[in-house]
Formats: sequence, C-alpha cells, structure tokens
Amino acid sequence: MDFSVKSGGPEKQRSACIVVGVFEGRRLTASARQIDQASGGMLTAVLRRGDHSGRLGQSLLLHHVANIPAERVMLIGCGKEKDLGDGTYRSILANAARALGDTGATEAAVFLADLEIRGRDLAWKLRQAVEITEDTYYRFDQMKSQKNENRRALRRIVLMVPKRSDLARAENAVRQGVAISAGMNLAKDLGNLPGNICTPDYLANQARVLQEEYGVRTTVIEEEDMRALGMGALLSVARGSRQPPKLITVEYRGGSETQPPVALVGKGLTFDAGGISLKPAAEMDEMKYDMCGGAAVLGTLKAVAELRLPINVVGVIPSSENLPDGNANKPGDIVTSMSGQTIEVLNTDAEGRLILCDALTYTERFNPSVVVDLATLTGACVVALGRHASGLMSNNEPLARSLIAAGKAAFDRAWQLPLWDDYQKQLDSNFADMANIGGRDAGAITAACFLARYTKKFRWAHLDIAGTAWKSGKEKGATGRPVPLLTTFLIERSESQARAEGHDED
Ligand code: BES
Ligand code: MN
Ligand code: ZN
Repeated sequence: MDFSVKSGGPEKQRSACIVVGVFEGRRLTASARQIDQASGGMLTAVLRRGDHSGRLGQSLLLHHVANIPAERVMLIGCGKEKDLGDGTYRSILANAARALGDTGATEAAVFLADLEIRGRDLAWKLRQAVEITEDTYYRFDQMKSQKNENRRALRRIVLMVPKRSDLARAENAVRQGVAISAGMNLAKDLGNLPGNICTPDYLANQARVLQEEYGVRTTVIEEEDMRALGMGALLSVARGSRQPPKLITVEYRGGSETQPPVALVGKGLTFDAGGISLKPAAEMDEMKYDMCGGAAVLGTLKAVAELRLPINVVGVIPSSENLPDGNANKPGDIVTSMSGQTIEVLNTDAEGRLILCDALTYTERFNPSVVVDLATLTGACVVALGRHASGLMSNNEPLARSLIAAGKAAFDRAWQLPLWDDYQKQLDSNFADMANIGGRDAGAITAACFLARYTKKFRWAHLDIAGTAWKSGKEKGATGRPVPLLTTFLIERSESQARAEGHDED
C-alpha cells in the first residue's frame, strides 16, 4: 500500500473515497460535521433514518453525497465517544481498512486523525493507521498453489491531518509506520513459513538478503566454527537434527564508528519438537514459530535500515532444530557452554536457553552498550501474562524502563517480572554448574535466571515473546511482534544519543 499525508477539509477532497468517523448517539466527528454542513445535512439525515448508529464495527458507504467532489463517503462507527482509547482507536482503523478493501475505490482520503485519544499525539495516530492497515491487508499465501488473487482495488491511502503545520511531523510518522510494517511483514513471513522450508540455512540466507538490500554485514558461523569456539550448549541442541545449526550475525552501522552497538539476540529455533523430552502431538505444528525471536531481529534490522537510523545495531541469531534422534541430547547429559560453565540437560525441551547462552557469550565480542534478547522461551510466560504482553526481565532498571516505555508507545507492550537472585537456586544441579530447568514454579523467571548467568558483563534485558509472537486458533499466524517495540526503542535511543552528542559540541 502506498501511504501519503495531506491537509485540507473533507468537503474539498477530489477523492475516490472519504473516510470519516461517527460516534454513537449520532455524534459526528469534526470531519463528518464538515461533510454534513457542505451537503446540507445529508449525514444527519442518514443517521436519523437509522442506517448507521456509530457502533464500533459498523461502516456505511454513501455515493453521490451532495456538493462533495469525492465519489464516495464512508462512515466508520467509532463507538461511544467516552470509551475512545488506544484499543478502540486501533479497531476503528482496522474496520476502516477492511471496509475500504471491499470497495472499488483505488484511493482513499482517511480523516481519522481528528479523533482525540488521551495521551496520544498525531504521530502516534498516523503510525498506528499505517501499521494496522498493513496488518489488516497482510496475507500469507506463499504456500498456496492458487494465490489469493489480490482483487483489492485500493492502491493508495492519503492520511489527512488537521493542519498544514503538522505535515512535516506527519510525514515522518508515516515513514516510521511504513518501515515498522515492512519489518513486521518480514518477521511474519519467516514465522509463518513451515519448518521444512524455514530451516536454519533458510534464515541465514534471509540475513544475506538483508545484506544485499541494505548493505548490512551478514556473517554465518557454521558448525565447525562453533566447535572451535566451544559452543557446546548450542551444538548439543543441534545433535538431534539433520539440519546443520547456524549462528547468524547481522551488523548495521548507522552511527559513528566508535559508538558501541545495541545487540539484539533472537532465538531462531526453526522447529521445536522437544527433542528426547518430546512434546505432545497437539498443536506441535505451532513450534515452527519457535524462531520468531530471530525473525523479529531480522525484521527490526530491516526497519532500522529502511529508516537509516543513526545508530549501530548488531543482530545475533542462534538457529537450530530440536528433534529426537539416536544422536540427540538426552536428559542427564552434561554439556560445556562457550563461557566454560557446565549445564546438566534435565529436559531437552528447555533448549532455547541452551542455544541462547552461547549466542550471548559470543555477543561479548561486539562490546555492546546494551543487549536485548528475544525468545519464544517458555509456556510459563503465556500462563503468567497471556497473549497481550511480552514478559520482560532485566539486570538493569533504566534499560527495562526504556523498553517498557517503547512498548507502550508502540502499543506492543511488555510487562516486567522480577529477576531476583532468590530464584537462582532453583537451577542448582548435583552434577554440573547448573541445570537447564528450574522446576514448576516461576518458569519464565527461572529461564531468565539461566540467561542471567551469561549476561553478567552486559546491561541486558530479556523479552519472553512466547505469548505474543503468534496467534493460535482460527486466526493462526505470526504477529510480527516485538518489531514495533524494538524499532521504537531504537528510534528513541538514536534520538537521545543525537541530543547528547549535540550537547557535547556546545
Ligand atoms: N519453545 C518452547 C516454549 C513455548 C512453548 C512457547 C509453548 C510457546 C508455547 C520452549 O523451548 C520450551 O519447550 N520450553 C519448555 C521449558 C520447560 C521444559 C522448562 C516449556 O515451556 O514447557
Ligand atoms: Mn522447547
Ligand atoms: Zn523452544
């Protein structure tokens, strides 16, 4: 979809379709009122006839509205004015996108940025408009023999802003929304691809595509290199698989040469059957999504590169399958991680932490300013937080706060869980430095406690995205989260770095 911004009144737009909001109780939004006035009260008459009540989810398409140069006017129900908040605004946008997609209009001028949402500015509303429209139109039909012939006529959406003086800021917000959506779409595609196609090697090739497209530097560490580096934990997970593991690194350099990078470390487990500690059959197909952390790292790098952010970012993606095999990890096996710490593998299904710990140790060579790992790490996190918030655990409060703030700003929220030392003893092992599981209690936290043993040298945060990276059931599909959170975090960080550098020069 092509997005642009423009200012001007709805009654003057020579558009294929004007979209305006209507609240319950026949209350017109500012733009709807302008059309109503220009047309001699046509909207009020339609509402009085009862054809549209302003209910959330309702839409009505009008043709030939008097004195209006636009071919169509679409009314979008906005619900009760007092209930208008982040969530309802997002469903208004999704409904508008869906309804527009069903018309024959090739272009539309959308007047939904005039709705007042407490605590949200124009830029937020525009970013959301772009992201939600892209999300609504996203289809994964790569694997269908009959492609869902894209019959949508709509090609261009003009997001209308109240004032001319808003245009520059609005354009920047749309640019960000477009970049974040491109990153989310990449993350969704990689997540939705099945395990027989999206293998570690496939992920590595996708990272190479980013190198071609954006000039980032992609390096793929192969099995022999891992052996030389002593990555016994990562290698132990790959033992049960015929697909060789890969450790993928992608360096984006938009900042000064001396600026230490932000490291994003994403779990890239392309299929998690559990290994010898085999998972039950029901819904096991969803474990193709166990690489969504890695996919979100690639998606975030794509967004950052699209925006040419003045910041250095390095992505690190340990990638493997976790399958049962005669050669696979067995419960009780003891492996030595790259850090030298030994691990008793009491459950081969707790493999994410095994591939991540070596990737985290490897990340030390980039001297990162902060490290954020993202992983579909524990079912326990889904039990704790459901599917609305990612779990966040960190050894650094300011970093945790910035990530939570970025999540709020992007409406891709995270919620912090404690990472107290008290939980560490659940990982005690009789035979090795630690066990890879911590018992039934606080499973999301003990998984983070395990990673904390490999991140002592960093300012580090861990995002458990097991509940947020994909949707199950009828709407099964990857969400592209937490690309919005991470990109927003990096935008904010590059801006505050620029402010700090500006101060130095004063
Ligand atoms: N990839 C899974 C976590 C997962 C499970 C995410 C279900 C989303 C839905 C991870 O590798 C795993 O299997 N974790 C185990 C850990 C346990 C053995 C300590 C889990 O959560 O059951
Ligand atoms: Mn597992
Ligand atoms: Zn897993």
